[in-house]
Amino acid sequence: MRKQIVAGNWKMNLTLEEGQILTSEVVNMVKDEVDSRVEIALCPPFIHLATVSKLIGAIPNVKLGAQNVHQESAGAYTGEVSASMLQSVGTHYVLIGHSERREYFHEGDALLAQKLDAVLAAGMTPLFCCGEPLDIREAGTQNAYVSAQLTNSLFHLDAETMQKVVIAYEPIWAIGTGKTASAAQAQEMHAHLRAHLAGQYGQAVADQVSILYGGSVKPANAAEIFGGADVDGGLIGGASLKSRDFTDIAKAIQL
Ligand code: PGA
Repeated sequence: MRKQIVAGNWKMNLTLEEGQILTSEVVNMVKDEVDSRVEIALCPPFIHLATVSKLIGAIPNVKLGAQNVHQESAGAYTGEVSASMLQSVGTHYVLIGHSERREYFHEGDALLAQKLDAVLAAGMTPLFCCGEPLDIREAGTQNAYVSAQLTNSLFHLDAETMQKVVIAYEPIWAIGTGKTASAAQAQEMHAHLRAHLAGQYGQAVADQVSILYGGSVKPANAAEIFGGADVDGGLIGGASLKSRDFTDIAKAIQL
């Protein structure tokens, strides 16, 4: 069975102390309430990583994630953080290509492929984000747009390595807008992406890759969205800042 994952992307929010409080709350609720087969990931800003790593300790289904990484292994890149640095504090997942990185920091497909390779070389799991803007959705060309993002940044990998990647589909028009894709729209795109993976790597490999949905997931809509056969969990922004909401979203996973 594919791994079911609920990842919280804190984005640029929370002081160190606020992050400690949120992590402790989430850890306690997850331990008590969430099936241990569901994997939880917390993706705080860099300054929190070492602290969150200690707080999640040895709970096997709670993992640490980072929001970004630099593609080079070390050197004169002021302000940047390398994959080996992230790995050294216990990071398991690294978000690659979030739409905010693509838009505000001009990260394109070729650069994202380099970041992906850096994460894999350090033994961590890339959580590769893709998704279309509103004008592409309105033009009806979203399937071609999103599959090109996969082709351009992932398809240099061999089949064995591809199975180590997690994908998050996040339609940009649904991020932070309160507007989610319908469960049917999410399932349709996830099935399309899995077929696109199967076309390159075969069905057995495609069936191993977890594909998460992101964009205004809340406790009230999580179960319906996660009900899609090709939807393997969620990447949660705003609602991941509230321990109760985040835990309730994780509880909506159907195993
Ligand atoms: P949102 O963000 O849940 O606040 O819409 C999702 C994301 O950007 O990962």
